Amino acid sequence: MVKYRIRRFNQETDIDEVQQVNSVCLPENYPKFFFLEIADKFPEGFNVAEIDEDLGEIIGYEMTRIERGLSNFGFGICKKGHIISIAVLDKYRRLQIAKKLMAAAHDALRLRAVREVYLEVRESNQAAVNLYQKLGYHQHKISRHYYTDGESAIIMVSKI
Ligand SMILES: CC(C)(COP(=O)(O)OP(=O)(O)OC[C@H]1O[C@@H](n2cnc3c(N)ncnc32)[C@H](O)[C@@H]1OP(=O)(O)O)[C@@H](O)C(=O)NCCC(=O)NCCS
Repeated sequence: MVKYRIRRFNQETDIDEVQQVNSVCLPENYPKFFFLEIADKFPEGFNVAEIDEDLGEIIGYEMTRIERGLSNFGFGICKKGHIISIAVLDKYRRLQIAKKLMAAAHDALRLRAVREVYLEVRESNQAAVNLYQKLGYHQHKISRHYYTDGESAIIMVSKI
């Protein structure tokens, strides 16, 4: 049984490990300043999953931004949560860690009075699509050739 905890990202101590998890799990990689900027703007929306031991290895993360834009649910111009990136190390998958990270993001958004959320996911990424559907997201539209390798993105949205 893997014991882990979900906690807020720490800019001083976690950046290298989070960047490492991102680079082994996803083709979309970002420079350090990008992670730090997201954390600066909305610290409660950036969370990590950490093994519950002395050394506390980081095994997953999610980062979220708050944007202003047209509601996908008829609320007019409003605040929208945008899940920018989420990943869990291969070895620790199917343990509900991503679900808990998403729950942390949603909680943080609700505390900022954000009522809806969206994200992009590769058409081929069935694992992630299943995860989001399980959490109540549905397909809003397809963004053709969204990714640099030409793959399209499914834009998924949910009320929270
Ligand atoms: C997608 C990802 C974050 C899921 O992380 P995870 O911690 O394994 O997910 P969870 O254990 O919380 O899964 C919750 C539900 O999502 C669905 N799901 C997750 N992984 C799945 C898979 N490989 N196949 C099918 N469904 C899957 C299931 O419905 C699962 O519930 P269940 O295990 O009770 O059936 C992880 O596979 C990952 O890091 N992938 C690479 C990075 C990535 O694709 N990020 C998303 C970019 S949009």
